[in-house]
Amino acid sequence: MEISTQYLIADGFDIGTDRDPYRNFIYTSFQEMATNISHRRVASLSKKAGDTLLSKMCGIIASDEARHAKAYKDFIYQILKVDPNEVLIAFEDMMKKKIVMPAHFLRELGKKMGETFTHFADAAQRLGVYTSVDYVDILKTLITEWEIEKLSDLNDQGEKARDYLMRLPDRLTRVAERMKNPNLDYQFSWIHPA
Ligand SMILES: [Fe+2]
Repeated sequence: MEISTQYLIADGFDIGTDRDPYRNFIYTSFQEMATNISHRRVASLSKKAGDTLLSKMCGIIASDEARHAKAYKDFIYQILKVDPNEVLIAFEDMMKKKIVMPAHFLRELGKKMGETFTHFADAAQRLGVYTSVDYVDILKTLITEWEIEKLSDLNDQGEKARDYLMRLPDRLTRVAERMKNPNLDYQFSWIHPA
């Protein structure tokens, strides 16, 4: 695990936001909500398994993440009042690229950069810690809280972006329904050392 952590620090990440503040705050709004969900779920899983300390730690982290999300979502909500078109275009662009988690380059010793992340994400999906349904739910929450539907007086590009975003949750729900639960028997070296 420590080796993976050191790799992650050295490999860094590319979340597709470049240095654009709108894209960065849209990304962090989404991502902080995702980490709130996943830590909350690990908290209840570990409680069920009898590890109260781990459960408590994850609970504290989860509520921190919720506060981070609240701050970033408010940044975007305020920016939408003065620059709705550019925010919508940035939001559309981020959703087209998909919100990748900052650990997407995750690897284990002897593996290529990013090779472990797919297995990690599969495990999260299988355990219900963070799923494709959660992804759609977060998107829906952002659309509602940012009142995307109500935005008017937009330019052509802004309007196109708004319409794309309004249709996206249904589209992604259909994709999520078709997705099979990954049944892997991947053995993480963190748990099963060679
Ligand atoms: Fe956070």
